[in-house]
Amino acid sequence: MKLIIANKSHVKYAQIISDTITESAKVRGTGIAKRTPEYIQKRLENGNAVIALDGDKFAGFCYIEVWGHEKFVANSGLIVHPDYRNQGLAKKIKKRIFELSREKFPNAKIFGITTGLAVMKMNYELGYKPVTFSELTDDPEFWKGCQTCKNFDVLTRTERKMCLCTGMLYDPQAKPLPKEKNRPTKKGFERLKSIKESLFLKKNSK
Ligand SMILES: CC(C)(COP(=O)(O)OP(=O)(O)OC[C@H]1O[C@@H](n2cnc3c(N)ncnc32)[C@H](O)[C@@H]1OP(=O)(O)O)[C@@H](O)C(=O)NCCC(=O)NCCS
Repeated sequence: MKLIIANKSHVKYAQIISDTITESAKVRGTGIAKRTPEYIQKRLENGNAVIALDGDKFAGFCYIEVWGHEKFVANSGLIVHPDYRNQGLAKKIKKRIFELSREKFPNAKIFGITTGLAVMKMNYELGYKPVTFSELTDDPEFWKGCQTCKNFDVLTRTERKMCLCTGMLYDPQAKPLPKEKNRPTKKGFERLKSIKESLFLKKNSK
């Protein structure tokens, strides 16, 4: 398995990346924004993405986006092809994209929003902390990316203050968290998810 900083030669993988994201969103049923092949293609070309390849087979992908004049960068679109899941690949991709973000944008705060326990755990291990959306970028272009998520109505209803996703932030200036303290657990995550779902989704269906 190779982890590569993507370039123009990887544009041929844009379609399968987009399809894998769409399929995973259907299976999971919540909280993944769709990405068109054209959108993915741009991210493959600009030197800000990591692609994992098994020979020439697509295995995984993640990209960096820059917001608020480089004050923030987001590590977004993490996807591992179902054939390669549960083998630690997402963890490696996340680590590589995090390192790339730190190398290219050393002063930027790094953030992500997620509904997934796997991603929360990985972010936590890299030094991210859970934060409210008010601590993330206010760049409207970032939030526009949520338009294709099925929970977008929740985000607009709360005036972008909260949603099913949890915001997580790595601040290069902040003190590191004590290891193991506050580590996200399955139980804690399930509870947070169910609180958010009863707050946002049931109200919505009334
Ligand atoms: C989420 C995803 C990227 C994980 O990829 P993966 O390669 O299977 O993950 P890894 O094997 O590297 O696992 C990393 C950690 O997450 C945990 N994990 C993986 N899948 C999980 C799941 N579905 N639920 C809870 N935890 C999970 C692993 O146990 C591991 O934790 P550990 O370090 O405590 O052992 C992959 O399932 C995927 O592409 N899903 C669809 C897209 C998606 O949900 N993207 C995130 C958008 S917010």
